Amino acid sequence: MIILCTPDAVEWCDGSQGEWNRLTELLVKQGTFLRLNPAKRPNSFLARSRTSDVARVEDRTFICVKRPDEAGPTNNWADPVEMKALLKEKFRGSMKGRTLYVIPFCMGPLDSPLAKIGVEITDSPYVVVNMRIMCHMGAHVLQRLGDEAAGLVEKKRDGHGCFIPCVHTVGMPLAHGEIDSPWPCNEEKYICHFPDTREIWSYGSGYGGNALLGKKCLALRIASNIAREHKWMAEHMLITGLHAPDGSVTYVAAAFPSACGKTNMAMLVPPEQYTAQGWRTSVVGDDIAWLWPHEDGKLHAINPETGFFGVAPGTSYETNPIAMDSMKENCIFTNVALTDEGDVWWEGMTPEAPAHLIDWTGQDWTPDCGRTAAHANARFTAPASQCPTIDPDWQNPDGVPIDAIIFGGRRATTMPLVFQAFNWGHGVYLGATMGSEMTAAAAGTIGKVRRDPMAMLPFCGYNMGEYFAHWLEMRRYLRHLPRFFHVNWFRKDAQSHYLWPGFGENMRVLEWIVRRCKGEAAGHETQIGWTPSFEDFDVTGLPNFTEENFHACMAFDHREWKAELVSQAEFFIELYDHLPKELLFQRELLAARLV
Ligand code: OXD
Ligand code: MN
Repeated sequence: MIILCTPDAVEWCDGSQGEWNRLTELLVKQGTFLRLNPAKRPNSFLARSRTSDVARVEDRTFICVKRPDEAGPTNNWADPVEMKALLKEKFRGSMKGRTLYVIPFCMGPLDSPLAKIGVEITDSPYVVVNMRIMCHMGAHVLQRLGDEAAGLVEKKRDGHGCFIPCVHTVGMPLAHGEIDSPWPCNEEKYICHFPDTREIWSYGSGYGGNALLGKKCLALRIASNIAREHKWMAEHMLITGLHAPDGSVTYVAAAFPSACGKTNMAMLVPPEQYTAQGWRTSVVGDDIAWLWPHEDGKLHAINPETGFFGVAPGTSYETNPIAMDSMKENCIFTNVALTDEGDVWWEGMTPEAPAHLIDWTGQDWTPDCGRTAAHANARFTAPASQCPTIDPDWQNPDGVPIDAIIFGGRRATTMPLVFQAFNWGHGVYLGATMGSEMTAAAAGTIGKVRRDPMAMLPFCGYNMGEYFAHWLEMRRYLRHLPRFFHVNWFRKDAQSHYLWPGFGENMRVLEWIVRRCKGEAAGHETQIGWTPSFEDFDVTGLPNFTEENFHACMAFDHREWKAELVSQAEFFIELYDHLPKELLFQRELLAARLV
């Protein structure tokens, strides 16, 4: 890589505090970082990206495998030989005038049977400091890799002694004496995955999932390929512990498409009445779950990450106090606004906006200026260890046992507040047909349901039809099956008012789920699955929520479900030749139950 990229210097990252101090200082000097007021937000920094580099670029994300149908119709395919040749040309001389950083990192606790070691090479110090928050990183990982290769560590996992190479460049070489930009990047971007050789090559972007290659690229797109081969699952799911008054814990994993409140659910604060009874929740992860059939016959899960890369706008002490408390210090904020006191602000953080801010583009901002102060995809990078409700087992190499898998989306109609699948196959069908209404303002798209199976549409590294087959097959390796549920916090009435209060009140739904898992709660068998009745559902402490409101949240509308079935079929047709027959049969069974 040194010969190809011709950096001016090379640094091996050790992950130390000294390295963080030196690199954050360097980023401040280069103008990439602004140190926030240490009295308000100690050891924390604000970065403002270029306006053209603000999010994951799905249309520039490629799965490079020999045949297009291995990637499937939901991915961008590229020929691996051609793409590698193109990337080599792009990377040639790309780090001139910059330092090449070598980042040894591990996704998952080092001793976990699922942990994966990667090495990211990058010319972005912003990436180095973010990676230090988001995963195990530095000298101890490199040492472990060496020990494994030398046979000094007992072999417990596949991939033992080898690493996943991840290479990243912002794609902006510097001529001799050229002044650097605060956010170097290239207008042309390539985020490329080579599942056959387990490689990741990323060119042109410095932002989030495009550049922190352990997250979406390794822990989902490459890991989904490894998981398929080795009979485990790499999923876009939060993991949370639901602690009952009797001291028992029910761990659930939940998949929701982006912008459906995944981080809020991972960090849910139960209503007062629940807390008084002794209920509480704990966080294992907010974005990614790696799940495997454990020797005990159950599905176990680890969170491969060690940080939260959360969406800032909408996060407040009202909506998510746990996230707010997790980001009090040692954090990186990207594309949020700066207050006159040197702290951060974003839309929704406080009921009223400050009178003056510097917005995410670096311009003066006042509440009446007609622009948002933070970018809609502005992010906080916060260490999970700072989360006040972090689960004591969040770094347990053995993971936590999963009792329920929850799917959900943003649906104004059709989908009731909660229902339970009849069995594993039906649960996989619920995940495979999961959808969310698009909130984008683009004409003609509002309200249209985008199918996002298991919330993996942008993250499954192979053919989605084969992915469903893998899900169905996993049942065979488990003796104690988790229960499947579908939830919808976003149903609306005819006047477009939400029918359900959401946020912490979702605990009421989760309690029913917990009690179903334990065989304690009743359920009604309906056409679509098992549902609670009003009596099974605790609404004390919700004075304005009547039995009538409950029925509105749970209503089953024949016409809506028929339309739903037609829309699901449109998605299935896209995947026709790889779609497992069992899912077609599940759809047929549902159609039969509807008449
Ligand atoms: C994320 C995403 O950033 O899903 O987690 O887009
Ligand atoms: Mn995500």
